[in-house]
Amino acid sequence: MKVIVTKNYEESCQVTANMILDQVRANPASKLGLATGGTAEPVYPIMVDACKKGEVDFSQITTVNLDEYMGMDPTNDQSYRYYMNQRFFIPAGIDLARTFVASGKNDPEKEIALFNEKLYGDGHFVDIQLLGIGVSGHIGFNEPGTMISGVHVQKLEESTIKANARFFENEADVPTEAMTMGLGDILKAGKIVLIATGANKAPALRKVLLDDEVTADVPATVLKMHRDVTIVIDEALAAEIGWKN
Ligand code: GLP
Repeated sequence: MKVIVTKNYEESCQVTANMILDQVRANPASKLGLATGGTAEPVYPIMVDACKKGEVDFSQITTVNLDEYMGMDPTNDQSYRYYMNQRFFIPAGIDLARTFVASGKNDPEKEIALFNEKLYGDGHFVDIQLLGIGVSGHIGFNEPGTMISGVHVQKLEESTIKANARFFENEADVPTEAMTMGLGDILKAGKIVLIATGANKAPALRKVLLDDEVTADVPATVLKMHRDVTIVIDEALAAEIGWKN
């Protein structure tokens, strides 16, 4: 596992965006695994900017997003589809037909089949997967206690609902379930880049970085089993974790 310690969160976003941009420059027809959440948010405008300056061509990429809230209409401004359209796909001029964010409104069984089709139907696995990490240690929405390999519907932890309540008017509005790539789906990506900031992520990252255990208590520990993972953290978080390069 490679760990990049940056001066600050802004630099972390730049480093993370550069890794995705480098992947697309190396293979313009890359399949990108994308993530939402607050931490990843500033990564997208950096990629949009590179596209507007002609430094990268996104016309041939395809994308698959990690997760979506169940019951959430894709047009709802809290949906991950809306987040991706607004922050990346539309400003970068990406054909939405080349993008996939699961719909929280469709029949779950049919949607899981479609999700798998998008992940594996063309025989082209995700080339680079962007990840954040939940305070619970989740990646995607794979919560503690579950080690499910494939796409599934996941009940959200209380801590996740509380953490994500900041994006909603009331905590009661936060959906209690999500559809997510499973841990095996995430591990099939060619490369993985995880960006994190904030002291509240330190306990989970300590379990990822400072011991050899792979445990369902902290699902992100499965990343130890992948051969090309980069974790991007800033100095403040590194100090909090107790990580020294
Ligand atoms: C969210 C998302 C994850 C995200 C994580 C961290 O709930 N499902 O994909 O990486 O939790 O979110 P944030 O970056 O807002 O802390």
